[in-house]
Amino acid sequence: MVQLHSFNFKTEWIPTSIRYNRKEKKMSILSFPERGKWGDSNWRGNCSGHIYQALFNQYKDVKSFCDPMMGSGTSIAVAKEMGLTAYGLDLHSGFNALRHSIRDTIGQEVDMCHSHPPYSTIFGYSGCVWGDTPHPDDLSHSSNHEDFHEKMHLVLMNQREATKPGGYYGTLIGDLRKNGAYTSLQAECLTRMPANELVSVAIKAQHNTVSGRNTYSKMKHFAITHEYLLLWQKPKAPLSILFDLSEMAKAQAARLQSAWRVIVAHAMMALGGKASLGDLYKKISESAPDKLKSNENWQAKVRQILQVTPKFCSVERGVWAFA
Ligand SMILES: C[S@@+](CC[C@H](N)C(=O)[O-])C[C@H]1O[C@@H](n2cnc3c(N)ncnc32)[C@H](O)[C@@H]1O
Repeated sequence: MVQLHSFNFKTEWIPTSIRYNRKEKKMSILSFPERGKWGDSNWRGNCSGHIYQALFNQYKDVKSFCDPMMGSGTSIAVAKEMGLTAYGLDLHSGFNALRHSIRDTIGQEVDMCHSHPPYSTIFGYSGCVWGDTPHPDDLSHSSNHEDFHEKMHLVLMNQREATKPGGYYGTLIGDLRKNGAYTSLQAECLTRMPANELVSVAIKAQHNTVSGRNTYSKMKHFAITHEYLLLWQKPKAPLSILFDLSEMAKAQAARLQSAWRVIVAHAMMALGGKASLGDLYKKISESAPDKLKSNENWQAKVRQILQVTPKFCSVERGVWAFA
């Protein structure tokens, strides 16, 4: 049974002294050292309520809000206090963003659907913060980062569906570095969602983080002390989900084709701007092993790129150059 946390407050019910000035606009770098009174400060990975104040101040047209991963309820408490109709869902209350439609669960579309997910497998929620055992669909128990990226893509699609045409959907997410390997969770979200719907990327400073408290005198790279507040706007006249998916597939295919053009051009550059097919194959196999592993017909792909890309031309049989 899904437990739905729904609030519909009118601003008139709130004393004028604590009403927020929704005229104040914020810049794209947000920093709030205090988390404020909202939500539960002991909830691991909770965020400052001031972020949500800034968000609702900025988007004054937002009157209804849903957080499908409300955790301790910070976003919902702020939304409620600012007079928005707010719906809070979470796996801990029986709602599963990977299996249940947000729109069908709350029974409507909202002006803004915004999540604050676990940051991949950095630490577990079910079985740790709540409940006795790990839940298999808890994003914090994803099997690896690739699994998380795919799940997060599905959550964002679910949020988009629950957003009114012209409304906003988004997420607050951070990047990770573990054992020297940097994983950009936000970059994957940006890459997988429709680029033409992206409206804002803001940086949120992180305060009181473990990395910020420790002094990493021997650390080579900057410690990560920021997160990203990502926002997309659903088109005013959205087309069908099948159209959306085919547009996303087209964008991914175009990106892959572009990556191949770069690989071939880079090899051509390294070979002095003119090379035989054999030399190009050799150079590419040295410099792009991952790409090759995922495409058994990579040599045919290289020939196709040379033939269809105007920046390459055939100078003699089996020899190509920059046009
Ligand atoms: C970073 S916490 C949210 C914290 C919240 N912003 C706060 O201030 O308390 C992430 C939440 O995502 C929830 N979650 C993980 N997987 C989920 C899923 N499949 N469906 C819904 N919620 C999920 C977890 O239970 C956790 O409460």
